[in-house]
Formats: sequence, structure tokens, C-alpha cells
Amino acid sequence: MLIRRNPSWALPEREATPEALYMNRRAVVAGLVAAGALPAAASTDPEKVARIAARRTMDAGEPATALADVTGYNNFYEYGLDKGDPARRAGTLRPSPWTLRVGGLVKTPLTLDVDRYIARAPWEERVYRFRCVEGWSMVIPWVGVPLSSLIRAVEPLGSARYVAFRTLADPAQMPGLRAPVLDWPYREGLRMDEAMHELTLLTVGVYGRRLPNQNGAPIRLVVPWKYGFKSIKSVVAIDFVETQPETSWNMATPREYGFYSNVNPAVDHPRWSQARERRIGEFRRRETLPFNGYAEVAGLYAGMDLKRFF
Ligand code: MTE
Repeated sequence: MLIRRNPSWALPEREATPEALYMNRRAVVAGLVAAGALPAAASTDPEKVARIAARRTMDAGEPATALADVTGYNNFYEYGLDKGDPARRAGTLRPSPWTLRVGGLVKTPLTLDVDRYIARAPWEERVYRFRCVEGWSMVIPWVGVPLSSLIRAVEPLGSARYVAFRTLADPAQMPGLRAPVLDWPYREGLRMDEAMHELTLLTVGVYGRRLPNQNGAPIRLVVPWKYGFKSIKSVVAIDFVETQPETSWNMATPREYGFYSNVNPAVDHPRWSQARERRIGEFRRRETLPFNGYAEVAGLYAGMDLKRFF
């Protein structure tokens, strides 16, 4: 699938986020749009590359959440339960070198050296709304590529109907693994058509830079129409499977967290309403939108009872 120049969810850049928010990154982004390539530094010493080159392909049409909140207010239970724990404690994660294994029901399994992948793939900046199941939300400029590009490269077999994702589980790097909060490693999954959707982003950066450890360095998933816990961090394995894979939050509390977990204001969490949300940085709560405002994914669920498959 080719990336359309003006996808339905994209606003013209001039109508999007106020210019000042992007001033620091504009030079880098513009340079890359012109060059259509990564800077020389990226391919020679990826570890030292602080910034990631990317062309900007779409925008949430709202001001981005402050960098300090995006990188300081996190859920990453491998580092503790408080929102500030990941920023404080994730320094023990070693995101480089990093190997991502892609396999299962595929013709061409792959073992990716993530630093090299970061130096070579055609990164895009995408500003997505991000809605946590807890009722807060942000607007985040991610840097990634559609997951579909990686899926095509491994050539899934016809029997592959789901994609299973797994986070690193190394107690030496992740002190939170000592607490039995979840059945580690953290696991997530998507149906094949969800994984192939153009919005599903394999993500390596935020705000034009490589992901900080607390945001799931060096590589994570971002699925903007689903609750944030589907956007699994620090991924080491992607497997194509035939049956719906086990996922961490669903295994922990199936009554509260479904496999699909599409953002849906009409389906309440058993312990709280999902009708509204608080955008971090704002005072008043706002209405939550079906599919987090990404209505173009609705066709993936045609004919499904979204209360039952929550
Ligand atoms: N991935 C792993 N491995 N461990 C986690 O605890 N938390 C999830 C998701 N991915 C989590 C994870 C939840 S609940 C949310 S809301 C998002 O990551 C938060 O992403 P952010 O901290 O980058 O905003």
C-alpha cells in the first residue's frame, strides 16, 4: 500500500499545530522532506544520533502535549506504578544494541538490528491523539513507519490471522518485574487487518528524537484508535499466529480489559465511565470520540457487537 499524500485524517499543515510548537524540529523535518533521505550521521553512528529525520505526513489538528508531560507522565509497569516512575527509573533499560525478532507464520522471518533499522527506514512524523483507558489523553508527535511495511517484508502465510507482540522481560534492566503486577513479559496483540491498517505505527521516536526509555525505547507500537495499553513498549518479538493471542491486561482482568479495547465512549469500564477524558494540560474534561476520532477504522468492525467485543 502506498502512503497517500492527503489521507482523510490529515489536515493541511498550515491548519494544524501552531508553528511555534514545531520551531525546533522544523529545520530537521524540512531538510528531510527536501532530501527524502536520512542525514549522513544517522547511518554512520546511530547511537549518537539524537534526532530522527522524518517527513511529516499527518496531524491530529490540535496542539501537541508538552514534551515534559509526554516524557514525564507515563505508564510502563516494568518500572513501577506511579506516573513518574518510568522517567525516574527507566535509566536501567539498555535500548542499544536491540534485536527485534519477527516470525511465526511467515515465509521470511526477520531478525532486526534496531539501530540499523532506525538508520534506514523512511520515517514519518505523525501527530496522533492518544487516549489511555484511565481517562486521560495527550496529543503526541510520534516518529514511525506503518507496521504494514514490516509485515509485508516477512510475507505472512495465509494462516496468519493475528499478530502477537512481546516486550523485553529482563529483571536486571526492569526492576518492576519483581512485582507480580502482570504476568510478564508484557504482551499485546492485534487482528491482522488492524495490524495492516495504515494508522498502526511502528514507532521509534517522539518529538523528532529517538524514544526516551520511559516511552518504550527503542521501538514500540502505537495504535491511535485503541486504548493506550494496546500500544506496547520496548518490543523484542512480533509473531504471526492463527488464533487470538493472550494479552497481558486481558489475562489479568478480562472483565475490565478486552482484546479489542477500541476507544469507545459508549462502553464504560466496569469501574468508571469512558464518556469523557482529560487532555493532559487542560482543565476541563472533554468528550471522548468513538475510535478516538479515527472514524475511518470503523469498517474493520462492521457487523461486530462492540459492547461484546470491547
Ligand atoms: N508497554 C509495556 N511494556 N508496559 C506497560 O506498562 N503501558 C501501556 C502502554 N504500553 C505499558 C506498555 C499503557 S497503560 C499506556 S497508557 C501506554 O503504554 C503509555 O505510553 P506513554 O507512557 O508513552 O504515554
